[in-house]
Amino acid sequence: MTLAQTILTLLADGEFQSGPVLGQAAGCSRTAVWKAIQSLQNTGLEIYCVRGKGYRLAQPVELLNRASILAALDTDARQAVQQLDVYHEIDSTNARLLEVARQENTSGYVCIAECQHMGRGRRGRQWVSPLGGNLYLSLLWRFHAGATSLGGLSLAIAVAVVRALRDNGLASAQLKWPNDILLDGHKLAGILLELAGESTGPCAVVMGVGLNIRTPATAMSAVDQPWTDLESALGKTVSRNALTASLLCHWVKAVTDFERQGLIPFMDEWGQWDALTGNEIILDLPTGAVHGVARGVDESGALLLARNGELQRHHSGEVSVRFSAKMESPGTCGAGQ
Ligand code: BTN
Repeated sequence: MTLAQTILTLLADGEFQSGPVLGQAAGCSRTAVWKAIQSLQNTGLEIYCVRGKGYRLAQPVELLNRASILAALDTDARQAVQQLDVYHEIDSTNARLLEVARQENTSGYVCIAECQHMGRGRRGRQWVSPLGGNLYLSLLWRFHAGATSLGGLSLAIAVAVVRALRDNGLASAQLKWPNDILLDGHKLAGILLELAGESTGPCAVVMGVGLNIRTPATAMSAVDQPWTDLESALGKTVSRNALTASLLCHWVKAVTDFERQGLIPFMDEWGQWDALTGNEIILDLPTGAVHGVARGVDESGALLLARNGELQRHHSGEVSVRFSAKMESPGTCGAGQ
Protein backbone atom coordinates (compact mmCIF):
# COMPACT_ATOMS: atom_id res chain seq x y z
CA MET A 1 0.00 0.00 0.00
CA THR A 2 1.31 3.47 -0.85
CA LEU A 3 1.31 6.19 1.79
CA ALA A 4 -1.57 7.98 0.05
CA GLN A 5 -3.62 4.78 0.18
CA THR A 6 -2.85 4.35 3.89
CA ILE A 7 -3.87 7.94 4.62
CA LEU A 8 -7.06 7.54 2.59
CA THR A 9 -7.94 4.38 4.52
CA LEU A 10 -7.37 6.25 7.80
CA LEU A 11 -9.61 9.13 6.69
CA ALA A 12 -12.31 7.01 4.99
CA ASP A 13 -14.82 7.33 7.87
CA GLY A 14 -15.03 11.10 7.32
CA GLU A 15 -13.82 12.03 10.85
CA PHE A 16 -11.07 14.59 11.59
CA GLN A 17 -7.60 13.15 12.13
CA SER A 18 -4.65 15.32 13.13
CA GLY A 19 -1.39 15.32 11.19
CA PRO A 20 0.60 13.76 14.07
CA VAL A 21 -2.01 11.01 14.59
CA LEU A 22 -2.00 10.19 10.88
CA GLY A 23 1.80 10.28 10.83
CA GLN A 24 2.01 7.91 13.77
CA ALA A 25 -0.56 5.49 12.31
CA ALA A 26 1.13 5.55 8.91
CA GLY A 27 4.67 5.51 10.30
CA CYS A 28 5.79 8.74 8.60
CA SER A 29 6.47 12.42 9.26
CA ARG A 30 3.84 15.19 9.25
CA THR A 31 5.42 16.56 6.08
CA ALA A 32 4.98 13.20 4.39
CA VAL A 33 1.34 13.19 5.55
CA TRP A 34 0.84 16.65 4.03
CA LYS A 35 2.35 15.51 0.72
CA ALA A 36 0.12 12.43 0.68
CA ILE A 37 -2.93 14.65 1.36
CA GLN A 38 -1.93 16.86 -1.57
CA SER A 39 -1.55 13.89 -3.88
CA LEU A 40 -5.03 12.66 -2.86
CA GLN A 41 -6.45 16.13 -3.53
CA ASN A 42 -4.77 16.15 -6.93
CA THR A 43 -6.67 13.02 -7.90
CA GLY A 44 -9.98 14.79 -7.28
CA LEU A 45 -10.74 13.96 -3.66
CA GLU A 46 -12.13 16.79 -1.52
CA ILE A 47 -10.24 16.98 1.78
CA TYR A 48 -10.69 19.75 4.38
CA CYS A 49 -7.60 20.95 6.23
CA VAL A 50 -8.52 22.82 9.44
CA ARG A 51 -5.91 24.35 11.70
CA GLY A 52 -5.96 22.71 15.12
CA LYS A 53 -8.15 19.83 13.96
CA GLY A 54 -6.30 18.22 11.10
CA TYR A 55 -7.72 16.60 7.97
CA ARG A 56 -11.15 15.32 7.07
CA LEU A 57 -12.76 14.01 3.88
CA ALA A 58 -15.66 16.16 2.66
CA GLN A 59 -17.71 12.94 2.78
CA PRO A 60 -16.92 9.45 4.09
CA VAL A 61 -15.72 7.12 1.35
CA GLU A 62 -16.54 3.44 1.01
CA LEU A 63 -13.31 2.09 -0.42
CA LEU A 64 -13.52 -0.76 -2.89
CA ASN A 65 -13.10 -4.07 -1.15
CA ARG A 66 -12.40 -7.32 -2.94
CA ALA A 67 -13.83 -9.58 -0.22
CA SER A 68 -17.10 -7.57 0.05
CA ILE A 69 -17.59 -7.66 -3.71
CA LEU A 70 -16.90 -11.39 -3.99
CA ALA A 71 -19.19 -12.17 -1.05
CA ALA A 72 -22.10 -10.36 -2.73
CA LEU A 73 -21.86 -12.20 -6.08
CA ASP A 74 -24.56 -14.70 -7.04
CA THR A 75 -23.61 -18.32 -7.80
CA ASP A 76 -23.21 -17.84 -11.55
CA ALA A 77 -21.05 -14.75 -11.20
CA ARG A 78 -18.94 -16.41 -8.48
CA GLN A 79 -18.25 -19.29 -10.83
CA ALA A 80 -17.50 -17.03 -13.78
CA VAL A 81 -15.22 -14.58 -12.00
CA GLN A 82 -11.85 -16.33 -11.96
CA GLN A 83 -9.89 -13.39 -10.66
CA LEU A 84 -10.75 -9.97 -9.25
CA ASP A 85 -8.05 -7.33 -8.75
CA VAL A 86 -8.73 -4.05 -6.96
CA TYR A 87 -6.25 -1.25 -7.59
CA HIS A 88 -5.95 2.03 -5.77
CA GLU A 89 -4.65 3.70 -8.91
CA ILE A 90 -3.91 2.45 -12.39
CA ASP A 91 -3.41 3.89 -15.86
CA SER A 92 -6.51 2.14 -17.23
CA THR A 93 -8.35 -1.01 -16.12
CA ASN A 94 -8.95 -1.85 -19.81
CA ALA A 95 -5.26 -1.45 -20.65
CA ARG A 96 -4.35 -3.69 -17.69
CA LEU A 97 -6.66 -6.49 -18.88
CA LEU A 98 -5.44 -6.22 -22.48
CA GLU A 99 -2.00 -6.91 -21.05
CA VAL A 100 -3.36 -9.89 -19.07
CA ALA A 101 -5.05 -11.20 -22.23
CA ARG A 102 -1.72 -11.18 -24.05
CA GLN A 103 0.04 -13.05 -21.25
CA GLU A 104 -2.56 -15.53 -19.97
CA ASN A 105 -5.21 -17.68 -21.53
CA THR A 106 -7.73 -16.62 -18.88
CA SER A 107 -11.40 -15.58 -18.94
CA GLY A 108 -13.62 -14.00 -16.28
CA TYR A 109 -10.84 -11.69 -15.09
CA VAL A 110 -12.09 -8.51 -13.38
CA CYS A 111 -10.08 -5.37 -12.73
CA ILE A 112 -11.41 -2.42 -10.69
CA ALA A 113 -9.68 0.79 -9.64
CA GLU A 114 -10.31 3.69 -7.30
CA CYS A 115 -8.88 6.04 -9.93
CA GLN A 116 -7.36 5.92 -13.42
CA HIS A 117 -4.63 8.22 -14.71
CA MET A 118 -5.25 7.42 -18.36
CA GLY A 119 -8.86 6.27 -18.42
CA ARG A 120 -9.88 5.51 -22.01
CA GLY A 121 -13.14 6.53 -23.61
CA ARG A 122 -14.57 5.71 -27.01
CA ARG A 123 -13.04 7.21 -30.14
CA GLY A 124 -9.71 7.92 -28.45
CA ARG A 125 -11.25 10.25 -25.87
CA GLN A 126 -10.10 10.43 -22.28
CA TRP A 127 -12.37 9.06 -19.53
CA VAL A 128 -11.88 11.42 -16.59
CA SER A 129 -11.46 9.10 -13.59
CA PRO A 130 -11.13 10.91 -10.25
CA LEU A 131 -10.54 9.07 -6.98
CA GLY A 132 -12.85 7.66 -4.40
CA GLY A 133 -16.39 7.94 -5.69
CA ASN A 134 -16.95 6.42 -9.13
CA LEU A 135 -16.63 2.99 -10.65
CA TYR A 136 -14.00 1.99 -13.20
CA LEU A 137 -14.51 -1.66 -13.93
CA SER A 138 -13.27 -4.00 -16.67
CA LEU A 139 -13.97 -7.62 -17.45
CA LEU A 140 -11.86 -9.85 -19.71
CA TRP A 141 -13.90 -12.57 -21.43
CA ARG A 142 -12.97 -15.17 -24.01
CA PHE A 143 -15.63 -15.82 -26.62
CA HIS A 144 -15.65 -19.15 -28.44
CA ALA A 145 -16.90 -17.67 -31.68
CA GLY A 146 -14.88 -15.06 -33.56
CA ALA A 147 -15.09 -11.29 -33.37
CA THR A 148 -17.57 -11.19 -36.26
CA SER A 149 -20.19 -12.75 -33.94
CA LEU A 150 -19.80 -9.93 -31.44
CA GLY A 151 -21.77 -7.20 -33.23
CA GLY A 152 -24.22 -5.94 -30.64
CA LEU A 153 -22.23 -7.12 -27.61
CA SER A 154 -21.73 -3.56 -26.40
CA LEU A 155 -25.52 -3.02 -26.57
CA ALA A 156 -26.08 -6.15 -24.45
CA ILE A 157 -23.61 -4.81 -21.87
CA ALA A 158 -25.40 -1.46 -21.86
CA VAL A 159 -28.70 -3.24 -21.13
CA ALA A 160 -26.97 -5.14 -18.29
CA VAL A 161 -25.78 -1.84 -16.78
CA VAL A 162 -29.31 -0.42 -16.89
CA ARG A 163 -30.68 -3.61 -15.31
CA ALA A 164 -28.19 -3.20 -12.44
CA LEU A 165 -29.07 0.48 -12.05
CA ARG A 166 -32.78 -0.40 -11.88
CA ASP A 167 -32.05 -3.05 -9.22
CA ASN A 168 -30.29 -0.33 -7.29
CA GLY A 169 -33.15 2.15 -7.35
CA LEU A 170 -32.70 4.09 -10.59
CA ALA A 171 -35.64 3.42 -12.90
CA SER A 172 -35.16 6.24 -15.39
CA ALA A 173 -31.78 5.52 -17.00
CA GLN A 174 -31.86 5.46 -20.81
CA LEU A 175 -29.70 4.05 -23.58
CA LYS A 176 -28.09 5.98 -26.36
CA TRP A 177 -26.78 3.88 -29.24
CA PRO A 178 -24.34 2.27 -29.26
CA ASN A 179 -23.66 2.06 -25.55
CA ASP A 180 -24.06 5.26 -23.52
CA ILE A 181 -26.18 5.29 -20.40
CA LEU A 182 -27.99 8.58 -19.95
CA LEU A 183 -30.15 10.23 -17.37
CA ASP A 184 -32.25 13.13 -18.67
CA GLY A 185 -29.82 13.46 -21.56
CA HIS A 186 -26.80 13.63 -19.22
CA LYS A 187 -24.16 10.93 -19.40
CA LEU A 188 -24.15 8.61 -16.40
CA ALA A 189 -22.01 5.75 -17.71
CA GLY A 190 -20.01 4.73 -20.74
CA ILE A 191 -18.80 1.42 -22.11
CA LEU A 192 -15.64 0.65 -24.04
CA LEU A 193 -15.02 -2.72 -25.69
CA GLU A 194 -11.52 -3.56 -26.85
CA LEU A 195 -10.56 -6.67 -28.75
CA ALA A 196 -7.45 -8.59 -27.70
CA GLY A 197 -6.23 -10.94 -30.39
CA GLU A 198 -7.62 -12.44 -33.55
CA SER A 199 -10.73 -11.35 -35.41
CA THR A 200 -11.32 -14.93 -36.55
CA GLY A 201 -11.59 -17.92 -34.22
CA PRO A 202 -11.90 -17.62 -30.42
CA CYS A 203 -11.20 -14.11 -29.24
CA ALA A 204 -10.72 -12.23 -26.01
CA VAL A 205 -12.62 -9.02 -25.36
CA VAL A 206 -11.97 -6.49 -22.64
CA MET A 207 -15.20 -4.77 -21.66
CA GLY A 208 -14.88 -1.62 -19.57
CA VAL A 209 -17.59 0.33 -17.78
CA GLY A 210 -17.16 3.76 -16.26
CA LEU A 211 -20.06 4.73 -14.01
CA ASN A 212 -20.37 8.12 -12.35
CA ILE A 213 -21.51 7.52 -8.78
CA ARG A 214 -20.11 10.41 -6.76
CA THR A 215 -18.26 12.63 -9.15
CA PRO A 216 -16.41 15.74 -7.94
CA ALA A 217 -17.42 18.60 -10.25
CA THR A 218 -13.91 20.12 -9.95
CA ALA A 219 -12.39 17.04 -11.58
CA MET A 220 -14.90 17.20 -14.42
CA SER A 221 -14.21 20.77 -15.51
CA ALA A 222 -12.47 19.49 -18.66
CA VAL A 223 -15.52 17.45 -19.71
CA ASP A 224 -17.45 19.53 -22.21
CA GLN A 225 -20.58 17.38 -22.39
CA PRO A 226 -23.48 17.18 -19.96
CA TRP A 227 -22.87 14.53 -17.31
CA THR A 228 -24.48 13.44 -14.07
CA ASP A 229 -23.88 10.96 -11.25
CA LEU A 230 -25.90 8.31 -9.48
CA GLU A 231 -25.85 9.77 -5.98
CA SER A 232 -27.22 13.11 -7.23
CA ALA A 233 -29.97 11.23 -9.10
CA LEU A 234 -30.94 9.07 -6.12
CA GLY A 235 -30.37 11.74 -3.46
CA LYS A 236 -28.54 9.26 -1.23
CA THR A 237 -25.19 7.57 -0.84
CA VAL A 238 -24.56 4.40 -2.78
CA SER A 239 -22.53 1.38 -1.67
CA ARG A 240 -19.93 1.00 -4.39
CA ASN A 241 -19.07 -2.54 -3.34
CA ALA A 242 -22.71 -3.68 -3.47
CA LEU A 243 -23.25 -1.90 -6.79
CA THR A 244 -20.09 -3.44 -8.26
CA ALA A 245 -21.27 -6.92 -7.27
CA SER A 246 -24.74 -6.28 -8.69
CA LEU A 247 -23.22 -4.99 -11.93
CA LEU A 248 -20.97 -8.04 -12.23
CA CYS A 249 -23.92 -10.42 -11.73
CA HIS A 250 -25.89 -8.73 -14.52
CA TRP A 251 -22.79 -8.49 -16.68
CA VAL A 252 -21.89 -12.18 -16.43
CA LYS A 253 -25.49 -13.16 -17.19
CA ALA A 254 -25.63 -10.78 -20.16
CA VAL A 255 -22.38 -12.09 -21.65
CA THR A 256 -23.49 -15.71 -21.20
CA ASP A 257 -26.92 -15.03 -22.76
CA PHE A 258 -25.34 -13.06 -25.58
CA GLU A 259 -22.98 -15.93 -26.41
CA ARG A 260 -25.97 -18.28 -26.71
CA GLN A 261 -28.60 -16.08 -28.32
CA GLY A 262 -27.05 -12.84 -29.51
CA LEU A 263 -29.02 -9.66 -28.96
CA ILE A 264 -32.49 -11.28 -28.96
CA PRO A 265 -32.87 -11.44 -25.13
CA PHE A 266 -32.04 -7.72 -24.94
CA MET A 267 -34.20 -6.29 -27.73
CA ASP A 268 -37.34 -5.55 -25.68
CA GLU A 269 -35.47 -3.70 -22.98
CA TRP A 270 -33.43 -1.78 -25.54
CA GLY A 271 -36.71 -0.68 -27.11
CA GLN A 272 -38.14 0.42 -23.75
CA TRP A 273 -35.07 2.37 -22.64
CA ASP A 274 -33.90 3.75 -26.01
CA ALA A 275 -33.32 7.51 -25.68
CA LEU A 276 -33.14 8.07 -29.44
CA THR A 277 -36.16 6.35 -31.03
CA GLY A 278 -38.46 8.85 -32.72
CA ASN A 279 -35.95 11.69 -32.47
CA GLU A 280 -34.38 13.45 -35.39
CA ILE A 281 -30.68 12.73 -35.08
CA ILE A 282 -27.40 13.53 -36.74
CA LEU A 283 -25.10 10.59 -37.34
CA ASP A 284 -21.47 11.52 -37.86
CA LEU A 285 -19.84 9.09 -40.26
CA PRO A 286 -16.30 9.12 -41.69
CA THR A 287 -17.92 10.14 -44.99
CA GLY A 288 -19.82 13.08 -43.42
CA ALA A 289 -22.90 13.70 -41.30
CA VAL A 290 -26.34 12.31 -42.17
CA HIS A 291 -29.73 13.34 -40.74
CA GLY A 292 -32.68 11.09 -40.15
CA VAL A 293 -35.15 9.81 -37.58
CA ALA A 294 -33.90 7.10 -35.18
CA ARG A 295 -35.99 3.92 -35.39
CA GLY A 296 -34.31 1.67 -32.82
CA VAL A 297 -31.79 -1.10 -33.46
CA ASP A 298 -31.81 -4.45 -35.26
CA GLU A 299 -30.64 -7.82 -33.96
CA SER A 300 -27.10 -7.23 -35.19
CA GLY A 301 -26.90 -4.10 -33.06
CA ALA A 302 -27.11 -1.70 -36.03
CA LEU A 303 -28.81 1.66 -35.60
CA LEU A 304 -31.91 2.01 -37.77
CA LEU A 305 -32.20 5.40 -39.39
CA ALA A 306 -35.25 6.49 -41.39
CA ARG A 307 -33.96 8.71 -44.17
CA ASN A 308 -35.23 9.77 -47.58
CA GLY A 309 -38.09 7.27 -47.37
CA GLU A 310 -35.88 4.28 -46.58
CA LEU A 311 -34.61 2.51 -43.47
CA GLN A 312 -30.80 2.50 -43.29
CA ARG A 313 -28.68 0.32 -41.02
CA HIS A 314 -25.57 1.83 -39.48
CA HIS A 315 -22.96 -0.17 -37.56
CA SER A 316 -20.79 2.73 -36.47
CA GLY A 317 -20.89 6.49 -36.11
CA GLU A 318 -21.42 9.14 -33.48
CA VAL A 319 -24.97 10.28 -32.73
CA SER A 320 -26.23 13.64 -31.57
CA VAL A 321 -29.87 14.58 -31.24
CA ARG A 322 -31.03 17.29 -33.62
CA PHE A 323 -34.64 17.61 -32.57
CA SER A 324 -36.18 15.64 -29.77
CA ALA A 325 -39.72 14.38 -30.36
CA LYS A 326 -40.44 15.38 -26.76
CA MET A 327 -38.55 18.65 -26.43
CA GLU A 328 -39.20 20.41 -29.75
CA SER A 329 -35.69 21.86 -29.38
CA PRO A 330 -32.15 20.64 -29.93
CA GLY A 331 -31.48 17.83 -27.46
CA THR A 332 -28.55 17.34 -25.14
CA CYS A 333 -27.58 13.76 -25.92
CA GLY A 334 -24.05 14.70 -26.87
CA ALA A 335 -21.10 12.37 -26.95
CA GLY A 336 -20.65 12.45 -23.18
CA GLN A 337 -17.18 12.38 -21.73
C1 BTN B 1 -17.10 6.08 -23.33
O1 BTN B 1 -16.36 6.86 -23.94
O2 BTN B 1 -18.30 6.32 -23.18
C2 BTN B 1 -16.54 4.80 -22.76
C3 BTN B 1 -15.94 5.03 -21.40
C4 BTN B 1 -15.40 3.76 -20.78
C5 BTN B 1 -14.65 4.05 -19.49
C6 BTN B 1 -14.25 2.80 -18.78
S1 BTN B 1 -13.68 3.10 -17.13
C7 BTN B 1 -13.17 1.45 -16.99
C8 BTN B 1 -12.54 1.08 -18.31
N1 BTN B 1 -11.15 1.46 -18.34
C9 BTN B 1 -10.90 2.42 -19.22
O3 BTN B 1 -9.80 2.93 -19.43
N2 BTN B 1 -12.03 2.75 -19.86
C10 BTN B 1 -13.15 1.96 -19.41
